[in-house]
Amino acid sequence: MLTHCQTEVPCPVAVAGAGVQAELSAGLCAPQATISPKFLYDPLGSRLFEAICELPEYYPTRTEAAIFARYGADIARAIGPGATLIDLGAGNCAKAASLFPLLHPDQYVAIDISRDFLHESLARLRQRFPHIEMTALGQDFSSRLDLPADISPARRLFFYPGSSIGNFTPDEARGFLRRVRAQCDPDGGVLIGIDLLKDEQTLADAYDDALGVTAAFNLNVLRHVNQLLGADFDVRGWRHQAFFNRDEGRIEMHLQAMRDMLVRWPGGSRSFARGDCIHTENSYKYRKSAAIGLLEQSGFQATNAWVDVDEWFAVIHARAIGP
Ligand SMILES: C[S@@+](CC[C@H](N)C(=O)[O-])C[C@H]1O[C@@H](n2cnc3c(N)ncnc32)[C@H](O)[C@@H]1O
Repeated sequence: MLTHCQTEVPCPVAVAGAGVQAELSAGLCAPQATISPKFLYDPLGSRLFEAICELPEYYPTRTEAAIFARYGADIARAIGPGATLIDLGAGNCAKAASLFPLLHPDQYVAIDISRDFLHESLARLRQRFPHIEMTALGQDFSSRLDLPADISPARRLFFYPGSSIGNFTPDEARGFLRRVRAQCDPDGGVLIGIDLLKDEQTLADAYDDALGVTAAFNLNVLRHVNQLLGADFDVRGWRHQAFFNRDEGRIEMHLQAMRDMLVRWPGGSRSFARGDCIHTENSYKYRKSAAIGLLEQSGFQATNAWVDVDEWFAVIHARAIGP
């Protein structure tokens, strides 16, 4: 008889590294079951995210793009040409590519956990910009950030668009930004896109679109976990949920069980009752001052913050300070 959650002897058939499996298993067995949002991104998840960026409800991508279009020259002046542009969570690399003609980087380093998707994206980009030296790093940067020795230490600009920083709690975000700071010389900095607090309906709609693309993106994490962990999630037994948690100032995405079920994986299992949820993503929303505060508490000094006319989104450039 299986209990609520069991961890048994590890089985050799599992498909991801032991660290990934241990992390997934621990998350699934936690009192509030969780799957880290980084697992939303396999090749299909990355493509679904591209589709989300096209949706009318998903304002962050077009709002950030409008800021780059309007203030691109100012942003380029703040940064100057010849930087080593390091794209954190590069995805299809489209945002960085749109800035190449403004920023004229010497080197472009694209980092993403979704390795295959990243390598395909960078192969296409190399053909468009053969004069820029490019490196793809398939890496999970959530707990450490490793750059190979051949990445120039001079004039590093860490590019972190799309408000991905919001997937971390504020404490985790400060820890992450400090690790980024540790990879900068004093002439380095960050260019970061941060989503701002706004009316709750706009926020909730952005994560629960009418076509159900975000629902598919969220549900796809179960297919990915099946693949990584050898689990037997039945995707049809779950439904997407997204809501704004006012107390925490964040959108939460969950997957809710539509019936009682037992999910097994090599070395473990968990039973879910109808209505139980797996927490799959947080997306914290900030006031502009708090966003600048995050950077300033992490070894950076903001030089400029550009916002759109509705003040829905901020793009902030900050220089490395301190030792
Ligand atoms: C919200 S998407 C943003 C993509 C693109 N930068 C943009 O702004 O449109 C987040 C990206 O970060 C990547 N990612 C998420 N967690 C990651 C992690 N822990 N390490 C490396 N990449 C990660 C995902 O694969 C995805 O491409």
